[in-house]
Amino acid sequence: MNLRDYIRDIQDYPKEGIVFFDITPILSDPDAFRHTVDCLAEKFKDSGATKIVAAEARGFIFGAPLAYKMGIGFVPVRKPGKLPHKNRCVSYDLEYGTDTLCMHEDAIAEGEKVLVIDDLLATGGTAEGMLKLVTEAGGDIVGCGFVVQLGFLDGPKVMKDSGHNHCFLLE
Ligand code: PRP
Ligand code: ADE
Repeated sequence: MNLRDYIRDIQDYPKEGIVFFDITPILSDPDAFRHTVDCLAEKFKDSGATKIVAAEARGFIFGAPLAYKMGIGFVPVRKPGKLPHKNRCVSYDLEYGTDTLCMHEDAIAEGEKVLVIDDLLATGGTAEGMLKLVTEAGGDIVGCGFVVQLGFLDGPKVMKDSGHNHCFLLE
């Protein structure tokens, strides 16, 4: 199965000049969705991770079923004001704006092995923010997985420079 067939390019969304990679066709096809989660699980089966960290909203879509399949915990990273317990937060740049993400302070134990998961890597800002949140919490990042990356943006370089093990289902 070629997952690229299930990603739709939308021109000039959400702003002129942006090509938006719409992953909803993956979600609406049960085989493509299962295949995506299964491939991520295969990549990380020997990671030893006990938690998956993923950012709202699209990161949840892949991160939560992956955690279920791997039999490990899931940690939601959310926009400010959404998590009820004590938060740690980071701000970062996006392809089409800036944003802040937060995680519960006690979500990751010191030394805990963590996978960072998202649907798409563009500038790498979101991933960098999640890496920072996990690192500040004392987590050990054992892998980062993305369904797709936008090779013409900085994300792949950000991941390479981070020194963390990472993979993309689609290059
Ligand atoms: C998208 C996507 C990634 C991020 C990638 O999320 O799901 O999390 O952008 O871009 P980056 O590499 O430049 O940070 P978005 O912030 O649009 O929010 P959403 O998941 O709620 O749609
Ligand atoms: N997140 C950041 N940039 C994106 C893009 N071009 N398509 C889909 N999601 C994105």
